[in-house]
Amino acid sequence: MTDELIESILNESRSFAPSKKFIKQANLNKEEAERLKEEASRNHIEYWAKLAKDELDWFLPFKNILDESKAPNYEWFNDGEINASFNSLDVNASNNPEKTAIIFEAEDGKSERITYKELLSRTSQFANGLKKLGVVQMDRVVIYMPMCPEAVIAMQACARIGAIHSVVFGGFSSNALKDRIEDAEAKIVITADGAYRSGNIVPLKQATDEAVAQSSHEVKNVVVFKRTGEKVEFNQERDIWWADLISGCDSHCDPEPLNAEHPLFILYTSGSTGKPKGIQHSTAGYILHAKTTFSWIFDIKKDDVFWCTADVGWITGHTYVAYGPLLAGATILIYEGAPTFPDVGRFWKICEKHAVTIFYTAPTAIRALMKHGDEIPQSYDLSELRLLGTVGEPINPEAWMWYHNIIGKERCPIVDTWWQTETGGAMISPLPGVTNTKPGSCTMPMPGIDVDIVDESGESVEAPNQGGYLVIKKPWPSMLRTIWGDNQRYIETYWDKFDGRYYVAGDSAYKDTDGCHWIMGRIDDVLNVSGHRLGTMEVESALVSNEKVAEAAVVGKPHDVKGESIFAFVVTKGNRPTGEDAKKMQQGLREWVNEQVGAIAKPDEIRFSDNLPKTRSGKIMRRLLRAIAREEAITQDISTLEDESIIKQLQGKE
Ligand code: PRX
Repeated sequence: MTDELIESILNESRSFAPSKKFIKQANLNKEEAERLKEEASRNHIEYWAKLAKDELDWFLPFKNILDESKAPNYEWFNDGEINASFNSLDVNASNNPEKTAIIFEAEDGKSERITYKELLSRTSQFANGLKKLGVVQMDRVVIYMPMCPEAVIAMQACARIGAIHSVVFGGFSSNALKDRIEDAEAKIVITADGAYRSGNIVPLKQATDEAVAQSSHEVKNVVVFKRTGEKVEFNQERDIWWADLISGCDSHCDPEPLNAEHPLFILYTSGSTGKPKGIQHSTAGYILHAKTTFSWIFDIKKDDVFWCTADVGWITGHTYVAYGPLLAGATILIYEGAPTFPDVGRFWKICEKHAVTIFYTAPTAIRALMKHGDEIPQSYDLSELRLLGTVGEPINPEAWMWYHNIIGKERCPIVDTWWQTETGGAMISPLPGVTNTKPGSCTMPMPGIDVDIVDESGESVEAPNQGGYLVIKKPWPSMLRTIWGDNQRYIETYWDKFDGRYYVAGDSAYKDTDGCHWIMGRIDDVLNVSGHRLGTMEVESALVSNEKVAEAAVVGKPHDVKGESIFAFVVTKGNRPTGEDAKKMQQGLREWVNEQVGAIAKPDEIRFSDNLPKTRSGKIMRRLLRAIAREEAITQDISTLEDESIIKQLQGKE
């Protein structure tokens, strides 16, 4: 038996029950959770209909629940009318106007509190500003902003008037922004004069100018929020300052009654081709799952301060910053800057300063902070914390235990939430007052979510500890509706594998003897770098777009902080560079990828060779490259290689 296997068996059997104190006060207890699961399995449709009636405010109640006539383009509640911003802001501003909705912590340590009443009026005013620019229902608005309240206001304002937002993470390059503006055919881009990050200024406006200038689609206006006060280029015809736009605008704006299926947003994510996919979500189904999973998984109470560290540029920042918590009337914390600025204690300092009670972050952040030792978090008062969460990638048991012992002081349950951009909200996660947790397992599906693990022929894998495809067997309200502008790709990517029977998540997983789920990783050519999804093809196409590159193959390699790192094998057009030339070229190509995609896509390692290893049919032998990058023994048949000496080059031995 290998050490790895022994370790995994030990982890599976190590489980942590919530404390009596936690169980007593939990939003969902065992009986309620079982009742919900039982209702969902008895009548899946009625289960969702009841939740949608109880949890959401409708302008026009729905009669249709699930419409399968265009499957796999499922529709939910499609004769009802609703508004996401109304459900987030008006409902809570009327119930509890003075409650803090957002605590904003700027990178320089200044902070601001915004009540529900204020958030409603600021959102409404900005929504009126967008209307003044001629934004109407179905228009696409790209948001390329720092992590600040205005980013949430911009999203909520779009939702209010029925415009479709597409948030682009501020760490993406101008080129990546341009691709997304073109694909979404955005009418407006909302940006800022800059973003603070690690004490530096990220020039968002400059990147926007470049993107808009290069875009084949014409952007009508660029709205610029003044965050840094840096001098920026200003195109008088096209650009308008946020403050000037809202000046004179009324702070009341009626929310548009929208069809339940009205697209709320498009969010681009990586797939197995070079072109990111615009994942399209609906209104009612999405907010329903966002609200209920938020309340159940994070056990939210009226005095909680919830901090999800994700940027609004990712799905986690959509569902558990901009929508879920506001729909539930919670107080959220938004932090603008880097976790390590001005030092590695910043996260814990913020938890202490704002008395954070629920903290949700990515394993990569936990691993990065864990490296700096226990003394740093121990020097802050973390006694208000009562619940911890992770998302985005599998958490290794060592990091889980550190999170549990050093941050949670053995008192806070950890919710390891498995989900995806496509699923809209958490799908597999512990319920903190119910589920025994295990380090490294996301445990059990949420009520109403029909998860299974199937083999190549689509049959359920019954035996424990046997890996298979992770699939969702029944449609659920917050599922993606399509890929923007490419429904065929939607069908091929998620449904074709098992003839439309199940949604195929793209992950492999297994269940242990207790029925707990363990995610093993992606089954496609998608990497997970620091909890962010990245297509190997995306990095490859960035590399080959460089004039000096003939061919490139990118593989993932395990990394102790990032989870996975990017390893690129490159064939150049001229002679293979060696020595100093190779070093220079490596640096140049890393910078090139940074410009093409963004810093997250920069290869950690680049190795040059005269050729790439291919099969007789011309396919790159990726498994071989993966083994080489990981310095594993080569077990593949390499007899078909024209030139076996290439192996030495690929191994960096020549
Ligand atoms: O591979 C899974 C991994 O992240 C992928 C989804 O990436 P993205 O759409 O960017 O959304 C991330 C945030 C929801 C999944 O297919 N993943 C996500 N959460 C977990 C995870 N892997 C293991 N455990 C998790 N908790």
